[in-house]
Amino acid sequence: MQYSKKVLDYFMKPRNLGELSNADGEATVGNPKCGDIMKIYLKINKNEAGEEIIEDIRFQTLGCGAAIATSSMATEMVKGKTLDEAYKITNQQVADELGGLPALKMHCSNLAADAIKKAIENYRTNTPK
Ligand code: FES
Repeated sequence: MQYSKKVLDYFMKPRNLGELSNADGEATVGNPKCGDIMKIYLKINKNEAGEEIIEDIRFQTLGCGAAIATSSMATEMVKGKTLDEAYKITNQQVADELGGLPALKMHCSNLAADAIKKAIENYRTNTPK
C-alpha cells in the first residue's frame, strides 16, 4: 500500500486542526467500516453577494492517517466556498486532490465528505430563515 507525498504531508501537518468554540454548525460522524470518528466545526458568514459561505472550519479526527489527511484536505477545499458548493464535495474529489488513495483506504475519505454535509445540515436546521 503506497500513500502519495501529499497524503503524508497532510497527515504529518494537518491543516485546520482543532475546534471552534463559537461554531455555527457542527457534526460528528463515525465510519461504519472501522469505527473511526470525525468532528467538524463551521463558522458561517455572508459574502458580498449575500451568499452564506464557510468562513472558517476546524476538524478533529480520531482515526487512521488516511482519515486525518482527507479530513484536512476537505477542510481546505471547502473553506471560503458557499454552503451549496461545499455540500457537493465528494470523497472521490478529496482523494483526487490528495493524488489518490490506495483502494483499501478509499472508505476513509467518506468521513470528511459526510461530516461536512452533516455540519451544513446542522447549521441550516438551527438557523432561522
Ligand atoms: Fe478508519 Fe481509515 S481505517 S477511517
